[in-house]
Amino acid sequence: MKKPVLLSGHPELLVSLLENEREIALVYDRSVSPFAERISGLAPRGSVKACMAVDAREEDKTLESAADICRRLLDEGVSREGLLIGIGGGVTTDLAGFAAAIYKRGIRFAAVPTTLLGQVDAAIGGKNGVNLDGYKNAIGTFCFPEFTLLCPEAREGLPERELRCGLAEMLKTFLIADAPAYHRAVQDGWDQSLVEKAAGIKASIVAEDPFDNGHRKVLNLGHSFGHAIEKCSGGNIPHGEAVSMGIIMAARLSEAAGVTALPLAKTLAADFSSAGLPTDCPFAPGELAPCMKADKKRSGDTLDFVLLEAPGKPVLLPLSIEKALELL
Ligand SMILES: NC(=O)c1ccc[n+]([C@@H]2O[C@H](COP(=O)([O-])OP(=O)(O)OC[C@H]3O[C@@H](n4cnc5c(N)ncnc54)[C@H](O)[C@@H]3O)[C@@H](O)[C@H]2O)c1
Ligand SMILES: [Zn+2]
Repeated sequence: MKKPVLLSGHPELLVSLLENEREIALVYDRSVSPFAERISGLAPRGSVKACMAVDAREEDKTLESAADICRRLLDEGVSREGLLIGIGGGVTTDLAGFAAAIYKRGIRFAAVPTTLLGQVDAAIGGKNGVNLDGYKNAIGTFCFPEFTLLCPEAREGLPERELRCGLAEMLKTFLIADAPAYHRAVQDGWDQSLVEKAAGIKASIVAEDPFDNGHRKVLNLGHSFGHAIEKCSGGNIPHGEAVSMGIIMAARLSEAAGVTALPLAKTLAADFSSAGLPTDCPFAPGELAPCMKADKKRSGDTLDFVLLEAPGKPVLLPLSIEKALELL
């Protein structure tokens, strides 16, 4: 597969990208309305057939919301030649990408992520989806964006806590693939060039394994524990913070399983704390176990844990959940 197209710069880059489009539909997070209007103004005159605001709530990331988008596309007469652009965080781009993938058996999709997490993770890689009966992303497809625009202005106004969640995913990406970038991010703080680097790394990993059958698993560093922490907290601990704690647990497991000879957990915990990220999981192993067993990536009783030999050197280790929790 060709590598996903990432563009970095001002929204005005879209002028030339969209110049030949005749049917554009925008699905945008209501909280970034002025930014979405700016994007709409860059499309060729008369090409924007529909502009749909959505609430970026996990409970609204549903089949019904996707159907509402499709209904509106039908009402506006959008054909299979149409381009749907999702503007917002992961909730919005997941929903918009899913609607694009199913409308008339699929129209083209592009993403303008407005959260840091979206820019380094959710809007890259072609996965989309909606929730079903409380099961996150239970329904979805792969729909690879025509392009993902990484625009610093898109993040304006993003709350500090959301930025930290994105930072956790960015550090995760560097920990699995780029030790110097990891050290730069924790020592000097992140900037747009590191956003682009993290997005580029994810894009390369996706290009090698677009349908998530193998190598892409390394992107799950910190997620086996992270998902369980998120679940145990009843949604009070956001994804990025749970992943941050999960990475420290993965580092501890890396030491206990003999995958690394480094004092990884202590070092990473110090780095993450100094970056303002939480490192201590508030739940005991016994509390996490049932949630881990429900993990969607589980095959039998064994999970493929992503561990680290060192920053930049991931190792996949299949382990039973009981064994992993016992070793911690
Ligand atoms: N498809 C994938 O590969 C993938 C990967 C990771 C996460 N996800 C999905 O992404 C979602 C999480 O994404 P997220 O963290 O971006 O969350 P989100 O879309 O919920 O956005 C977080 C919050 O920030 C607000 N917001 C967005 N942009 C803003 C801006 N510029 N200024 C101010 N507020 C803004 C939103 O309204 C929301 O309240 C989850 O649904 C998750 O399942 C998907
Ligand atoms: Zn994640």
